[in-house]
Amino acid sequence: MRLVFLGPPGAGKGTQARDLAREWNIPQVATGDMLRAAMASASPLGREAKQYYDRGELVPDDVILRMIKARLSESDAGRGFIMDGFPRNLAQAEALGRLVKDLGHTLDAVVYFDVSEPELLRRLTGRRVCRQCGATYHLVFAPPTRPGVCDRCGGELYQRDDDREETVKHRLDVYARQTAPLLDHYRGQGLLVTVKGEGAIDTIREAIRSVVEARRR
Ligand code: AP5
Repeated sequence: MRLVFLGPPGAGKGTQARDLAREWNIPQVATGDMLRAAMASASPLGREAKQYYDRGELVPDDVILRMIKARLSESDAGRGFIMDGFPRNLAQAEALGRLVKDLGHTLDAVVYFDVSEPELLRRLTGRRVCRQCGATYHLVFAPPTRPGVCDRCGGELYQRDDDREETVKHRLDVYARQTAPLLDHYRGQGLLVTVKGEGAIDTIREAIRSVVEARRR
């Protein structure tokens, strides 16, 4: 199963990809998570990415494509993948198409998460993430049992630097200009399926399962 999860910041891509990847036994390839890990370790790639990330800008394509090529050459990616946060512009989409083709595969579907802008703002400004295992919470919609502590691993919850209101607004603008055109790109290839990304997390997960299963029949 080779899937792309596409949608604006805060649409719920990571929340759904994490659980469905586990369920389907394929890796979640999340470029944002990979960049945060690289920045935390202060690797050369992480230092290069940080100046863009902190401003809510897209990190240059060559950096992202190096990361993706390396990740797809790992053995678990042979079983398939869920791309979460990649591709984010036309050049990245074309590069992914070439990479998948060179590996002798095709994409099964691109799942678009349709969520309104006021809802995205509420979600991003209330999001908290576990420093240890990356699990995602929301202060109102998906709170942890104990404030500030991860239910899964007991790790500390923190607010991402790019989830502050001003940066969030800029990320939404970058999405509209650079990423939203991918909807037409993938619609034209007959790969786009849309799920309503608002409502209960479990209901959305079920909707994704059924559109993906329908594509594979
Ligand atoms: P990245 O980490 O990919 O961020 P993003 O795409 O902006 O997406 P988010 O992680 O913000 O949102 P999400 O859709 O995963 O939502 P989530 O499930 O967490 O990228 C960050 C930065 O890295 C970019 O700005 C850029 O600089 C760089 N970057 C990354 N990839 C790149 C690339 N390919 N090219 C160039 N640069 C790149 O949910 C959000 C919140 O909502 C959570 O609190 C969650 O609990 C809550 N929630 C989820 N579902 C629901 C629901 N149904 N109801 C209520 N609340 C919900």
